[in-house]
Amino acid sequence: MDRRLQFAFVLLCLGLLSSTARSDLVVSKAERLVDLNSHIVRVLSKLKVENEGPDDVSEVLLALPDAQAKNLAAIRTFYSDGKLGFVLPTEPIEPKGMPSDVTYYSIALPKKLGKGKTVSLDVLSIFTRSLKPFPEEITQAESQLVVYTDNMYYTSPYPVKYQSLVFRLPGRVESYTKYPKVELVKSELRYGPFEMQPAFSYSPVVVHFENNNPFAVANELVREIEISHWGNVRVTEQYTISHGGASLKNGFSRIEYQARPYMRGASSFRVLIAKLPARAHSVYYRDEIGNISTSHLWDDSQRTQLEIEPRFPIFGGWKTTFTIGYSLPLHDFLFEADGGKRVLNMTFGCPLDEVLVEKHIVKVVLPEGSKDITVATLFPTKQSEDVKYSHLDILGRPVVVLEKDNVVPEHNLYFQVYYKFNNISLLSEPMMLIVGIFLLFVACIVYMHTDLAISKTSSSYLEKLQWEEVQATVQHIKNIFDQYLAAHDKLESSLRDLSRSGDVQSCKAARKAADAQFKELAKELKPLLTFLQSCSQASSILPKIEELVTKEKEMQEKEMAKHTTVVDCFEKKLGGKDIESRIASQQQKLTSLKQEVESLLDSISEI
Ligand SMILES: *[C@@H]1O[C@H](CO)[C@@H](O)[C@H](O)[C@H]1NC(C)=O
Ligand SMILES: *[C@@H]1O[C@H](CO)[C@@H](O)[C@H](O)[C@H]1NC(C)=O
Repeated sequence: MDRRLQFAFVLLCLGLLSSTARSDLVVSKAERLVDLNSHIVRVLSKLKVENEGPDDVSEVLLALPDAQAKNLAAIRTFYSDGKLGFVLPTEPIEPKGMPSDVTYYSIALPKKLGKGKTVSLDVLSIFTRSLKPFPEEITQAESQLVVYTDNMYYTSPYPVKYQSLVFRLPGRVESYTKYPKVELVKSELRYGPFEMQPAFSYSPVVVHFENNNPFAVANELVREIEISHWGNVRVTEQYTISHGGASLKNGFSRIEYQARPYMRGASSFRVLIAKLPARAHSVYYRDEIGNISTSHLWDDSQRTQLEIEPRFPIFGGWKTTFTIGYSLPLHDFLFEADGGKRVLNMTFGCPLDEVLVEKHIVKVVLPEGSKDITVATLFPTKQSEDVKYSHLDILGRPVVVLEKDNVVPEHNLYFQVYYKFNNISLLSEPMMLIVGIFLLFVACIVYMHTDLAISKTSSSYLEKLQWEEVQATVQHIKNIFDQYLAAHDKLESSLRDLSRSGDVQSCKAARKAADAQFKELAKELKPLLTFLQSCSQASSILPKIEELVTKEKEMQEKEMAKHTTVVDCFEKKLGGKDIESRIASQQQKLTSLKQEVESLLDSISEI
């Protein structure tokens, strides 16, 4: 309390000192209404400001003690000229020769205020973290009590002729600063009226009261708005929500809670309402565990409401994280703008009721190829740019990142992102798709070729190759044997010729030629046999071939013997009958051998 008094004293002294400097304006009337229903405190000051000086005035100063100013989330000045209402620019300034410990704001008047004239201004100031839980820790069964501190007098750099102060309260009042001029009527605590107070008058007022309304604080909200020129705006919101009120002590009992949730958990909250744009669709709500299907969704022509119910009630100091997502029709939010630009017009801020967002990040993901990006907001934000890559993107999508701390529902105002976009870029993704499919096709072909290359070295392929080689070799052997048989036939015919012509010499020559051919064929046969012997796949055919070779050798021997016998008989001039009887057994043997060779040849040609 000491510091407050000191502060008041300083204010008073400085106020008196400076009162001469700014004495042209006076506040003829200041009615303050302080709404303490929510954890976000709204102060509406209805002011009548009069110019008592000789000169025209174009600005009006507002003052806030620094202790309050540090919790100020937004300040707006409304002005009405009788027909139309305006919001007047209200900016912080640092005027010279004025008391410190006070933060000043300047309202630019729409027209100069002449001598003796009065202007009516409604100033809405929104404060966060201004309700201090007291006690700081409560049990599940207790109600939450909070303390609010303010200046009983309107803090003003100008003298205030007439003023009043009203607190609107949500419930029971534990205590409040007693003062002769105070009354408590139902849920309203009224101070004043006070007359003729000098500039910077100060006297603390403290209200201690019950407030079980949800103290929902989003420690962080990341909102991603992704534009697709194919007709869709996809919004994804990631929340970290905590309870900013009195901490829960002595643990939580779900049984008690379920039996009487309003008695045994009055300070907690378990439902949050998200107000989404009217034509939101594909809405989902999930946490780390998965989709939460108990959430309710209902919509009318004005808006879509999503009821978010976390898996457990949120008590003081507790935290939960979840994500909600939805899609919006693009044509509701994207418009043509001047200079061939496009403009996205959407609201900033959090769609949840009465939630304070400590750190709000809005990311607007524009289509790939967007250029000349500019942003228009009604309040300052920290702006940066980023790039997001998703499937099919080459250059990535430009992302506009807006950051703002201490965001309250009053910040749910429209902001605009302007950008240039070439329609050709729209075709880039289908083109990519086509090129992608083509590349896939090429890759498949390459893969198939690779596959063949791989199978060339595979054992099954080697086996196949070897088997083909075996077949070719067998075929070759068969040819050789056909030639053997032809050579035998020649020898036989040379003998028939001999019996007709008696030309022994040509018969001997034929025998010589056949002999040479047999040797030639044997030479040719040898490596083929060696190959088959070394080749496991020929194991089934090899015995037949070896038998063939044996029989053929035998046949050659018999053939030669017969030939010799016949020629000898001719040289000895023996008769035909004699010759036939001599070679009869040889001939018989030869015939059976020939049959065997032929049948063997038939059987090996079947492979
Ligand atoms: C959650 O629900 C959304 C919308 O109904 C759906 O697209 C998504 O696949 C669901 N996710 C899981 C993990 O079930
Ligand atoms: C944005 O949309 C709102 C609501 O439709 C409208 O009032 C406002 O004029 C729009 N702003 C711009 C710059 O288009």
